Amino acid sequence: MSQEVQFANTDLPDLIQLKDISQVYDGNKVVIKDCNLLIEDKPGKGEFIVILGPSGCGKSTLLRYIAGLQTPTTGEVHLNGKLRTSKDSVGMVFQRYSSFPWMTVQQNVELGLVYAGVSAKERSQRAKAMIEKVGLVGHEGKFAQYPALSGGQLQRVAIARSLVSNPKMLLLDEPFGALDIQTRLQMQEMIQRIWSEFEGTMIFVTHDIPEAVFLADDIYIMGRNPGNIKRHFPVNFPRERTRDLKRSPEFNKLVYELEDEMMALNK
Ligand SMILES: Nc1ncnc2c1ncn2[C@@H]1O[C@H](COP(=O)(O)OP(=O)(O)OP(=O)(O)O)[C@@H](O)[C@H]1O
Ligand SMILES: [Mg+2]
Repeated sequence: MSQEVQFANTDLPDLIQLKDISQVYDGNKVVIKDCNLLIEDKPGKGEFIVILGPSGCGKSTLLRYIAGLQTPTTGEVHLNGKLRTSKDSVGMVFQRYSSFPWMTVQQNVELGLVYAGVSAKERSQRAKAMIEKVGLVGHEGKFAQYPALSGGQLQRVAIARSLVSNPKMLLLDEPFGALDIQTRLQMQEMIQRIWSEFEGTMIFVTHDIPEAVFLADDIYIMGRNPGNIKRHFPVNFPRERTRDLKRSPEFNKLVYELEDEMMALNK
């Protein structure tokens, strides 16, 4: 199927661009083909971008290119308008195992500031403020490992560490995928609340349609065989969002539209 999404390159600075990306494994297994993506920087505001797609379509692979953990077989990855180099560093939150279990919660969060050259005193203060935002007050001295911290709490640590330096962009690869439903819903509310205070752009991967609609400003749907960004859905609900939004007819209409699109793309 041909590329359906046309990316309008406006006067805003380019943040992330994937150009004509293809990924081939084992010589002939084409996993991603002619994939393009352009995310522009909305200074002081950022955007919540969700990449939605079925298992195996290449969502994590796209994030790994942006994070610099993998290079595509062909095509280019640009960050901030320039070809990506090994010096570029972009934070990523994974589905699980995103925290360092040999460090305490406080140390994990402070780590997000170590490479930014922030003084020890300021690191401690900023980490404390971030720990409060993610709801982990009282857990600062615990090691970031299960079962002293639950799966949801460990993801809170990872999010706090990733956001404490107020980065321009953050990648999240199904960060709530391993959580029970109640914790997942709480984490969805938390991430969008924190994000509304944050000025950067989130690139959030999920295969959960209501999660995508609840969080996103823009949804890009991927299809598979081969993986490619096929559709763009802007989401125009105001910030801040609470779980009540999920009961509105507009919310459910969009969920069904996306569901139909996903079914049609991945027959
Ligand atoms: N090293 C590899 N060798 C061969 N195939 C690979 C390799 N790494 C990934 N793949 C294949 O590439 C495809 C895309 O993988 P990727 O992990 O990006 O998918 P995904 O969309 O993130 O899926 P999920 O939702 O299950 O996490 C899959 O079919 C996977 O089997
Ligand atoms: Mg994945």
